[in-house]
Amino acid sequence: ATERSLVLVKPDGVRRGLTGAVLSRIEAKGYRIVALQQREATQAELAAHYAEHEGKPFYAPLLEFMASGPLVAVVVEGERCIEGFRSLAGTTDPTTAAPGTIRGDLGRDWGLKVQQNLVHGSDSPESAAREIGIWFPSL
Ligand code: CMP
Repeated sequence: ATERSLVLVKPDGVRRGLTGAVLSRIEAKGYRIVALQQREATQAELAAHYAEHEGKPFYAPLLEFMASGPLVAVVVEGERCIEGFRSLAGTTDPTTAAPGTIRGDLGRDWGLKVQQNLVHGSDSPESAAREIGIWFPSL
């Protein structure tokens, strides 16, 4: 079915000037960009977005990193685009993410407490609906 996914270009991606490269790969894959916004995240948005990770050792560094500069929030649409974008993004650890993926081609470990892995993509239709509600309450 046609799905929507919530994608974030994280602050490391924006800082490194990789927003265009990420959007280009999404469009080249054949997905449509429905909404797009660059701005700094609020603590409330980050707490809601990462509620499932509360209590994990990387939670505080993760929120600090995600608030370290502007990010780009994107709503992507297409047939099976949730799993499609996750495949495009590659696995969480950018050092070992497969070449050909966004993280595998463009990311690496910077020796910090949190994985700076350039992008986020929703992991299920339920997460997508929840996350789109956080970043784009008017959609
Ligand atoms: P994301 O897909 O946005 O979801 C949670 C984020 O936490 C993940 O990308 C990484 O940025 C980060 N993360 C997940 N696991 C770890 C880990 N073991 N150590 C550090 N950071 C992590």
